[in-house]
Amino acid sequence: MFKFFKTKKNHFLGVDFGTSAIKVVELAYKNSQITLSNYGWVDFGSDENSGKMNYENKKEKLIKYLEMLLKEMKVKSDSVYTAIPAHNGLSVIVNFPDISDEEIAKAIKLEAGKHIPSPLDEVYLSWDVVLRDKKKGGIFDKAKDRMSHKEGEKKKESIEVMLVAAPKEEVLNYEDIIKGCGLKVKSLELDIFSIVRSVIGEDLGTYLIVDIGSRATNIILVDKGIVRINRSLSVGGNEITNTIKSSMSVTWDRAERFKKKPRDFFSSKEAVSILPILSSISSEAKRIINEYSKKNPEKKNPVDSVIISGGTSLLTNLDSYFAKELGVKVVSSNPWKRVKVKDPLLEERLSEMAPSFSVAIGLALKGVDDYCRDI
Ligand SMILES: Nc1ncnc2c1ncn2[C@@H]1O[C@H](COP(=O)(O)OP(=O)(O)OP(=O)(O)O)[C@@H](O)[C@H]1O
Ligand SMILES: [Mg+2]
Repeated sequence: MFKFFKTKKNHFLGVDFGTSAIKVVELAYKNSQITLSNYGWVDFGSDENSGKMNYENKKEKLIKYLEMLLKEMKVKSDSVYTAIPAHNGLSVIVNFPDISDEEIAKAIKLEAGKHIPSPLDEVYLSWDVVLRDKKKGGIFDKAKDRMSHKEGEKKKESIEVMLVAAPKEEVLNYEDIIKGCGLKVKSLELDIFSIVRSVIGEDLGTYLIVDIGSRATNIILVDKGIVRINRSLSVGGNEITNTIKSSMSVTWDRAERFKKKPRDFFSSKEAVSILPILSSISSEAKRIINEYSKKNPEKKNPVDSVIISGGTSLLTNLDSYFAKELGVKVVSSNPWKRVKVKDPLLEERLSEMAPSFSVAIGLALKGVDDYCRDI
């Protein structure tokens, strides 16, 4: 999305500033293979009070934690791929007649004004033709090329452009944190694109990703690698923990431990209290599936499956809950699928915490994809 400078090294560092933890993944690319070079995370502990921190405190804390983590990890990269939460930015598909890139560049500003309430000089804008981008040709663009070929055959008259916007203040804030750790920002994107890159990759099917983190939930409908609809809800694992804490009259930490127990959460009596939270997520997921189905009546099944991701997707039997609510197959995400991990024991450990790492992995994969496109 927003590129800052070029590098030619073959190690790529993704940093995800999540609400509960900073997660870091470093990938190496050699002989057409992507391998895990390094990974790590630093938890913020009980997150109850983090929302009350002021801006400068939060920035200082993030610099301190990230610096500590990177030192321990001994990362090889000197630049970082990072992301901001989708709910702080905007991504929308806009239709244009088949006009040139120069004309799109002019028209997109007008279009952005319709979607963005703040003055345009306060946001960074970027755009990409999602159906006819043949110039690039990296790993991730192959899907788009196949699409554009098909569309060309049908002589479709309009083109679709993905418009992405992010507040400058937010982007500069992240840049400050990375610089504060002595590194440079190589690229910054909305986290939904990182999730799609790691969880879907080159798969050309239609999927609904439900990514439930600590504070937010991203619901992303992806068709042939392109984000068609996305919504962010301000609910997540923290709200679930808070509800359990109140209903059991226990501390935050005990409620967290209770939530993470490996037994059927839905048969516990506390499940009743969190059902309204889960139901708000499944209702929105249902609305998005219906919306996409109406736009694409020719599709027999609007989505091939629902993919659950984010740390909260580890809630025991959440997949069965969503499958029942949505009437669609539900699977857990595997964001490591493009990455080779040499040690089988490590591979097992990584798969256990995979859902929390989808953004960090997707960011490091952006480095690999950009590198492949440039060589
Ligand atoms: N086994 C588990 N069962 C239930 N919930 C879990 C489990 N493991 C982690 N979680 C929850 O997952 C959440 C953290 O997920 P994740 O790492 O995706 O969030 P984040 O990236 O920090 O947050 P956000 O994306 O909202 O900023 C926490 O609420 C945590 O309690
Ligand atoms: Mg997250």
